[in-house]
Amino acid sequence: MHSDARVHRQTSGALERGYRGVAASRDLRLIAAVTVLGVLQASSDYLKKRKIDNARLNAEHLLAHLLDRKRIELYLEFERELTETELAPLRDLVRRRGEGVPLQHLLGTVEFCGLTILCDQRAMVPRPETEELVELLESRIENRESRIVDVGTGSGVIALTLAAKFPETEVYALDISEDALALGRSNAERLGLTERVHFFKSNLLQNISERFDLIVANLPYISMQDRQSLSSEVLHDPAIALFGGARGDELIRDLIEQAPPHLQSNGLLALEIGVGQSEPLREFLVEKNFHDIESKKDYSGTPRFFFARYG
Ligand SMILES: C[S@@+](CC[C@H](N)C(=O)[O-])C[C@H]1O[C@@H](n2cnc3c(N)ncnc32)[C@H](O)[C@@H]1O
Repeated sequence: MHSDARVHRQTSGALERGYRGVAASRDLRLIAAVTVLGVLQASSDYLKKRKIDNARLNAEHLLAHLLDRKRIELYLEFERELTETELAPLRDLVRRRGEGVPLQHLLGTVEFCGLTILCDQRAMVPRPETEELVELLESRIENRESRIVDVGTGSGVIALTLAAKFPETEVYALDISEDALALGRSNAERLGLTERVHFFKSNLLQNISERFDLIVANLPYISMQDRQSLSSEVLHDPAIALFGGARGDELIRDLIEQAPPHLQSNGLLALEIGVGQSEPLREFLVEKNFHDIESKKDYSGTPRFFFARYG
């Protein structure tokens, strides 16, 4: 047998035994002899068997996190042997990833528009589509001193990235969930943005009397009947961050109705929406007298965002 193949098989076996919690001394010796490359291969095989997408990438992120390295630095250490002290926590992380715990929860952070954001079960894991929303907004924010409100702020990603990109803005970050607000505030502190990003508990815009140049929202938009089709990974997000009502777009409609008195003249409403909601929501925006209504697709070609002005 080719020596690499043997190492790989031994590592896989040793890690698998470890995952099942069996630690005979022979296995421990084997585990103590594994290299970074061997562990990456074994972990990635384990995750693949459990149908985790991008298994190898996930394994690299988890090992780099534990060794306090950049992922790319692992490539310079492929031959390094890992100790049992290093392997034990990795087994735990890989096992939990295999059970569908989101990678971002295991790492504790996520990269969003170039910022490192704390991420845990208190709020939704920020999605790449929402990064697209922020990117699309960049060219639409004309007044550098805009007053902005992010409704349903979760971990604070939209509010914080806009505040970071536009240093003269003042940003309100609203959520109905105390847990999400606590996480958002921690993120604001870490990023040094507490002076310009104000977190408030509010049911949509109910607790706010101010007017804004921009109202932006990525509200829950999944219908209750689609619950069954969600992966166990998505179900790690808080239910309050996922479900928008029986149809799915109820909260978005409520916000469209509440928005006009909170918008400056010609103010902008920016929305992230769910699959199949584009046409009915366009009609609703027209009905509520919004103008310059613009629908944008995400990178996968799904109509995902609305930009509309009022007044
Ligand atoms: C889809 S998550 C988005 C979180 C974050 N904006 C993001 O893009 O990652 C929706 C957020 O809306 C909040 N939410 C749900 N119902 C709400 C309501 N009635 N008023 C305000 N926030 C609400 C949830 O707590 C959750 O944090």
